[in-house]
Amino acid sequence: MIQAIRGTKDTLPVEIDNWYFLENIFRQVSDTYGYKELRTPIFEKTEVFSRGIGDGTDIVNKEMYTFEDRGGESLTLRPEATAALVRSVIQNKLANSGTAQKFWYFGPFFRYERPQKGRLRQFHQYGAECLATDSPESDVEVILLANSIIKSAGITEYKLLLNSLGNDQSRAEYRTALIEYLNSHKEGLSEDSCNRLEINPLRVLDSKDVRDIAIVQDAPVLSDYFDEESKQHFAKVTSMLDALEVKYEISPKLVRGLDYYSHTVFEFQSSALGAQDSFGGGGRYNKLFSELGGKDTPAVGFAFGVERLLLILEALKLLPEAKPDTDIFVVSGSEDVQGYAFKITQTLRNNGLRVTTDLNGRSMKAQMRASNKTGASYAILIGEDELANNTVTIKNMQASTQESIPFTDLNTYQFNIK
Ligand code: HAM
Repeated sequence: MIQAIRGTKDTLPVEIDNWYFLENIFRQVSDTYGYKELRTPIFEKTEVFSRGIGDGTDIVNKEMYTFEDRGGESLTLRPEATAALVRSVIQNKLANSGTAQKFWYFGPFFRYERPQKGRLRQFHQYGAECLATDSPESDVEVILLANSIIKSAGITEYKLLLNSLGNDQSRAEYRTALIEYLNSHKEGLSEDSCNRLEINPLRVLDSKDVRDIAIVQDAPVLSDYFDEESKQHFAKVTSMLDALEVKYEISPKLVRGLDYYSHTVFEFQSSALGAQDSFGGGGRYNKLFSELGGKDTPAVGFAFGVERLLLILEALKLLPEAKPDTDIFVVSGSEDVQGYAFKITQTLRNNGLRVTTDLNGRSMKAQMRASNKTGASYAILIGEDELANNTVTIKNMQASTQESIPFTDLNTYQFNIK
């Protein structure tokens, strides 16, 4: 038997309503915030991500699905959306007006990670990006949008972790100090952190290795290196969130795994998830446009992991109740009446009802059993009499009542679907 690729999942019909539930929320809530959907291709030239996300990151170094196409070009299955979206916005000149441009997306992404609960090689993200403004207000707006989505899904127990990485100058000064400190404790650091030390020292701060945690405890603190601009930007973000009564926790060691961030960064965590407890994250990225050959355009955004949102909904028993497979099951008595049964089926479907009929030539008894199994609210019984008199027998499965009506009344019949 050929198996699906490790770390990928089929979405089966029994699960699909859960996806629709979230997808509808993504659409509706994004719309209320004035964000427009933008769909980019699933693969891009590799440099979109290597330049965008950063050569020193785990994503670029270890996790990308990169391959040469038949023309010898290096292509990569998108590991995230932000760099691809920025490429598209530059190419399609969507952010040239000087006013904030707001986009959202939903779709599959690919990372070669070790699969475990909540960590897949093909996973889905919903995300939103607010471009062409560096105002703290736009940081707040994307956080509010993320919060609205979480709340619309019914999730009330979660943590919003917030930090600032300051501007480039502040971070560069901090970086030097951090490298110096970490170098003086190098022998105690994990191997991973030793390797990261020169290329991406900030990542050492959020290492989960106990050896690193102990050393990081006394490391220089990023916010001590903030200049006035960095301080003011973050102060405005936190004071607005306070005024709006948005709950958050300042997490000074939150740095995120992508190189493009500056100023505000944030992450959403849920204790319902286990080890992979982060179900979304984002932040400000002011250099990505110029990194990808566009003109300087400040931006901020975030993404949720949709499978992780679903795991939370499942753990908290917040998934929508399963719908019956059909509303009405049309049972036909014999082959002779099948044409009439199909006419009825079509009439009802044209009225927007969900209708199923037997396609296997089964006995009436077997069809009634099938009807029961679907959880249909009604069975419609069609036999020789109905055909001869041009009538329809409607059985209300909940009330166990039955009535016969002329076919011509079917269009206006009031079905009470559960
Ligand atoms: P990220 O933190 O790499 O950020 O991914 C966002 C979310 O995607 C994570 O919090 C997680 O829920 C989900 N995720 C990531 N990898 C996997 C995986 N292997 N399996 C399942 N879920 C996963 C970004 O991707 C940024 N582009 C977010 C952003 C948008 N920043 C600014 N704008």
